[in-house]
Amino acid sequence: MTLFVFSRPHKTKNVTLNDVVGVRRPLGAVTRGTTAPGRLRRADRWLLANWPSLRSAARPLVVDLGFGASPVTTYDLAARLRRVNPSVRVVGLDVDPARVAAARAEPPPAGLPVEFAVGGFELAGLRPDVVRAFNVLRQYPAGEVEKWWAEMTGRLAPGGFVLDGTCDESRRLASWVRLTASGPQSLTLAVDLSGSPGLVAARLPKLLISRNVDGEPVHRLLRALDDGWARLAWRSVFGPRQRFAAVVEELRAAGWPIADGPARWRRGEVTVAWTAIAPGLSIG
Ligand SMILES: C[S@@+](CC[C@H](N)C(=O)[O-])C[C@H]1O[C@@H](n2cnc3c(N)ncnc32)[C@H](O)[C@@H]1O
Repeated sequence: MTLFVFSRPHKTKNVTLNDVVGVRRPLGAVTRGTTAPGRLRRADRWLLANWPSLRSAARPLVVDLGFGASPVTTYDLAARLRRVNPSVRVVGLDVDPARVAAARAEPPPAGLPVEFAVGGFELAGLRPDVVRAFNVLRQYPAGEVEKWWAEMTGRLAPGGFVLDGTCDESRRLASWVRLTASGPQSLTLAVDLSGSPGLVAARLPKLLISRNVDGEPVHRLLRALDDGWARLAWRSVFGPRQRFAAVVEELRAAGWPIADGPARWRRGEVTVAWTAIAPGLSIG
């Protein structure tokens, strides 16, 4: 299927992506469009490190769901991905037709071939390998999250995954859930090493925000990070990165199913298997 790369679709006779896939009403609601350049770079770096087949895949498809008031983070993502695999196809979707029209009208930086279309959780009928949905579900009721997770994961290409994440405006705090067709797989916390790691609680994925209370495993995880941070304060002589890596190492030794290794921990990032923090479950 050959598709036109949208820069000024209203001045051409080429069909649009929405014409091709026949999407009428996107699933979802228009929400705030706040975004900023570089805002999602921690998640994007993690995506590259955790998508081993990206390099060899033939024209993989990535959807940036809910790109916001400006497609700047979609272009950030496309630039990063194309450095690894120049054949990658990136489509920015938003439920707001005005935001899609504005994105199409904007000249792409460095000629990056990104497409834009109106679409919601139904992913505009596409079957992507990866969906990045950042700061989208955070604006929905927690009770709807699992329904929308199922909607998105049911539309993935085989082996595909979704990153549902949230971050703050300053880009210092972020967290994201990796989801496949089998459900949530992991939670990643990207903390601000200038303070206590538990401050990332302010940016937990929607499903976990109200679960950060006594008795819930995600609360136990955040408390374990803060306790370790306080106990290993002496490690500050080696810098906050070493201190955080030591905290995570201790958590792993205590039985938390933690992925990655010291290189990522030193960035202030830690990935935990979903089974350990799923709401209502308990370990330790
Ligand atoms: C806060 S902005 C996020 C922008 C960017 N992803 C970021 O994190 O910087 C949220 C955007 O998601 C869009 N949105 C909300 N629900 C959506 C849905 N179900 N599908 C696609 N876009 C959606 C809103 O219209 C808005 O433009």
